[in-house]
Amino acid sequence: KKVVLAYSGGLDTSVIIPWLKENYGCEVIAVSADVGQGSELDGLEEKALKTGASKLYIEHLADEFAEDFIIPTVKAGAVYEGKYLLGTSFARPLIAKRIVEIAKAEGADAICHGCTGKGNDQVRFELTIKAFAPDMAIIAPWRIWDLKSREDEIAYAEAHDVPLKITRETNYSKDKNMWHLSHEGLDLEDPANEPMYDKILELGVSPEKAPDHPSYVTVSFEKGVPTAVDGVKMKPADLIWKLNELGGANGIGITDLVENRLVGMKSRGVYETPGGTILYFAHEQLESLCLDKETMHYKQQVALKFADLVYNGQWYTPLREALSAFVDSTQEYVTGEVKLKLYKGNVIGAGTTSPYSLYSMEVATFDEDEVYNQKDSEGFINLFGLPLKVRAQMLAKQGR
Ligand code: ARG
Ligand code: SIN
Repeated sequence: KKVVLAYSGGLDTSVIIPWLKENYGCEVIAVSADVGQGSELDGLEEKALKTGASKLYIEHLADEFAEDFIIPTVKAGAVYEGKYLLGTSFARPLIAKRIVEIAKAEGADAICHGCTGKGNDQVRFELTIKAFAPDMAIIAPWRIWDLKSREDEIAYAEAHDVPLKITRETNYSKDKNMWHLSHEGLDLEDPANEPMYDKILELGVSPEKAPDHPSYVTVSFEKGVPTAVDGVKMKPADLIWKLNELGGANGIGITDLVENRLVGMKSRGVYETPGGTILYFAHEQLESLCLDKETMHYKQQVALKFADLVYNGQWYTPLREALSAFVDSTQEYVTGEVKLKLYKGNVIGAGTTSPYSLYSMEVATFDEDEVYNQKDSEGFINLFGLPLKVRAQMLAKQGR
């Protein structure tokens, strides 16, 4: 028997390897995804093999992540509950899809993941597995084993010779990729506590520690896709890394929120999304010039639904794909340049240009103009206000 395991090298997935072998008598093939998280992958192969896996695949998915998941979500302007830029949410379908491909190629009997039964990630992994391998068996140890805590896991690891460099000192539950780093658990579980940013932050500094002078950056877009930073063309992954550096250095993109998980509970997390925060801001600035009012307002509704779908693990669904088609059609003229000022945690617009701008100085000016007839407004307001007027007359007649 063969099981393919979504492996990160952390405590959970390290313990899962001997646990699978013990409980299923199977061969374990580990798969790690490189979604641009950097150094976490160093030494992983040795570790996986020492822990008992027969093989480790390291899948380099950063470009695909940036191009096929991050950029479409930026174009949609999708933000979960007004704050969360979905960094973990849209990485899961990509990773799960690749794992399915490997499981099929390996002729595996099951796919295993280390998500708990209390979170969103289990849903995101498993919906994607169902989408691409409807009959694949899924093993979710956290939902069935009797290890109830981190202490139990460490004891199990020690009893099974799993090499751990983890001390008994506790850590936040983190998830890192090229788009974000999330922190949950420990003192953060009580929303009354201010996050200990000095201890938490890894992708940048707090606003207090950011430079006292602003940095300027210009992001160029073609059809809604960011293509250059300060005039230097780059592929999306490089552009995101570049903006992460700039944003991190200026204390940008630190979010503390209580969110509603799909599985019913509220949970509190701190997210670092430095480059992403800049990119969303820049894209929105440009859309404010290039989209007509009706399209923009409708697109805002779509963004809410898009965010829910991504958060809930429904990336590979007909609706998400249809909404992406709508979004792409709105981006035809979202081309131009956005200059931004980055200063102590703030992203501030510093001038936007587009050859397709719908902004007309001639129409908007407070100075004299030839194109806008102010007399037109009188009739417009009479009709626009007619329902209000009729209602007010009715209320007066009724003595209300
Ligand atoms: N709460 C966030 C989400 O649902 C982050 C989850 C982080 N996942 C993790 N395994 N640490 O997208
Ligand atoms: C987990 O429970 O595995 C992590 C948190 C989440 O999935 O929301």
